[in-house]
Amino acid sequence: MAVVTPWEVSGEINYQRLVREFGTKEIGPALLEKISSFSKNKLHPMLRRNFFFSHRDLDLVLNDYQSGKGFFLYTGRGPSGKMHIGHLIPFIFTKWLQEQFDVNLYIQITDDEKFLVKRQANWNDVEAYSKDNILDILAIGFDPEKTFVFRDSEYIRHMYPLVLDTAKRTTFSTAKAVFGFKNETNIGWIFYPSVQVVPTFFEKKRCLIPCAIDQDNYWRIQRDIAEPMGFKKASAIHSKFLPPLTGPQGKMSASDADTAVWLTDDEKTVKKKINKYAFSGGQATVEEHRDKGGNPDVDVSFQWLKILFEDDDKKLQKIENDYRSGKLLTGELKSILIEKINSFLSVHAKKREKAEKKTEKFMYSGKLAEKMWAK
Ligand code: TRP
Repeated sequence: MAVVTPWEVSGEINYQRLVREFGTKEIGPALLEKISSFSKNKLHPMLRRNFFFSHRDLDLVLNDYQSGKGFFLYTGRGPSGKMHIGHLIPFIFTKWLQEQFDVNLYIQITDDEKFLVKRQANWNDVEAYSKDNILDILAIGFDPEKTFVFRDSEYIRHMYPLVLDTAKRTTFSTAKAVFGFKNETNIGWIFYPSVQVVPTFFEKKRCLIPCAIDQDNYWRIQRDIAEPMGFKKASAIHSKFLPPLTGPQGKMSASDADTAVWLTDDEKTVKKKINKYAFSGGQATVEEHRDKGGNPDVDVSFQWLKILFEDDDKKLQKIENDYRSGKLLTGELKSILIEKINSFLSVHAKKREKAEKKTEKFMYSGKLAEKMWAK
C-alpha cells in the first residue's frame, strides 16, 4: 500500500489515484498551452515531461496574471539534514516560474517543523541544517530583490497574529482527518500546520505553491479558511517524486545514504553509487540485453536523466530508443548519468560558495526582505 503524507512517502505510488483521492486536477495539454503562451521561454522540461503533473486552480493564477492582478510564489524546505538532488527539484522549477512571470517569491525554512517532527532532532542540529540548506537553495539563483527567505523561528513574531487566526479556525478533528494526528502526536506538531499555511497570506494576491504532492494536505486546510479570513484560496502545482536510486518506489530517504545522491557527494562517490545502486531496467547479461532491450520506464538512471539532467528532448529520445532496442547498455546509460550529475554538482558547489555572501540580502536587506521585516 502506498502512503503519501507530508511526513511519510512509501510504496508504489499511483499518481492518477492521488489526484482523485486528493481532489486535485491533472495538468492537461490545454493548460500547458496556456502557460506556454505567457512564458518567455519554452516550457520547462519538468512540465513538458509531466513531472509537475497536478494542480489546484492554476488556471485562475494564469487568469490573474493575464488580467494584470498578478500573483506570488511560495515554497519551502524543512531542514531535516543535508540536501540531496531530489530536494532541489521544487526550487529549480520555482526559479523557472519566477523568471517567466517576474513575481515575488517567499521561501519558508521550517526549522520549527523539523525540530518538532523528528524525534532525535535537537535545536543546534536544526539550526546548522537551516544555514546549510539555505546556501543550497540560494545557489539555484533567485531574484534577490523579489525573494524573501525566512526561518520560522526568526520570523514568527511577524506571522504570529495570522498563525493564531489560522489555528483558531482549524479544529483538532479537521487536523486529525487531514494529517492523521494521533493522541501520541506532540502538541507542537499539531499546531505546526498553521505556520505552514500563513505564508499563503503574505500578499492579497493569489498565491501559487510549487511543491511535491505530499504537501497538498496543508493547502486543503488553507482553502477552507482563506476566504473567511479575507484572502484568496491558494493555488498549487504539484510534482511527483524523484525515484530513489534503489528502485521506482517511494522517495529518497534522508536516513539511507545510498538511496540518494547528496549535493556534497564527490565524483568518485557518485560514480560508485550509480554503478552499484541505480536500479536498472536492463537485462541480466549483455547478450540478453542486446536481444530484448532494456526498460527505461523503470530504469532509475533513465528517469533521472528525464526528470533532471537531460533537457534536450532529441538527445533524451535517442537514449530512450537506444536503450529500448538494446543498442545502449546499462553501464553506458549509467556513464551518461554519472557525467551529468558530476558536472551539475561541480557547478552547484561553486554557486553555493557564492551564495554565502548573498544570504544577507535574501533574508534581511533585499527589497522584498526589508518590506517583510518592516511589516
Ligand atoms: N514542509 C516542507 C518540508 O518538510 C517545507 C515547506 C514549508 C514547504 N512550506 C512549504 C514545501 C511550501 C513546499 C511548499 O520540506
